[in-house]
Amino acid sequence: MSAAPLQLPHLEGVEAAKRAAAYAAVDNHVNHTHKIIGVGSGSTVPYVVERIVQQGANVNADRWFVPTGFQSKELIIKSGLRLGDVDNYPEIDVTIDGADEVDSKLNCIKGGGACHLREKVLAEAAATFIVVADYRKESKLLGDNWKQGVPVEVAEFAYAKVLRQLVKMGSTNAVLRMGKMKAGPVVTDNGNFVIDAAFPEAVMRDPQDLLQRIKLLTGVLEVGLFCNMAKAAYFGNQDGTITSKL
Ligand code: 5RP
Repeated sequence: MSAAPLQLPHLEGVEAAKRAAAYAAVDNHVNHTHKIIGVGSGSTVPYVVERIVQQGANVNADRWFVPTGFQSKELIIKSGLRLGDVDNYPEIDVTIDGADEVDSKLNCIKGGGACHLREKVLAEAAATFIVVADYRKESKLLGDNWKQGVPVEVAEFAYAKVLRQLVKMGSTNAVLRMGKMKAGPVVTDNGNFVIDAAFPEAVMRDPQDLLQRIKLLTGVLEVGLFCNMAKAAYFGNQDGTITSKL
């Protein structure tokens, strides 16, 4: 007897948009030859995993899934997929991840969930890096929509010095990211802090230059600017259609 098809909840608005983007990315970029798959973080990625599960237990039995953090690790395990590790699989076929903002050249701001160090490792380890997002994330210039600033993961010991240097570098608002209850700083999966540093439009026009300058500051582990990394981005619209950029 064949199993009854899984009934998925009907979604509307932003959630429908996220699901549409995720499904399009999987349908276009994850095929049966892909054995090592990087799974990103955030609220769009669960739909990526949902679609991958729909590709069937037979295909997935032969694959390993590498997470970008605690959340995606749990997602992989709960979805019944095989959990891999970047130590074992430093070469990934395809990584699919969300983004906080994506510009017309597919440069991204990432790290709204403080996972950008591991996310960048898996994006760089992948032959193909694909971004999935809802319509609110698409912009002409990074910083237009994501006002919180560029996420910078920093060693705890160095945070005050780096914060000061970011201000000297022209940041109009650099703050240590605090937890929801404001009782203490957010601590990443790697045990570090995150600074969110906003920069004026003139600086944001060259995200690659900004990325390189911030990375040179001692104590900085990674910057949430992903430049020239994504091969394609899929933006879901409210009506369930998608806009793709290649
Ligand atoms: C986490 C990230 C996420 O991918 C980003 O915040 C997008 O999340 P969502 O899909 O919930 O909009 O970079 O560090």
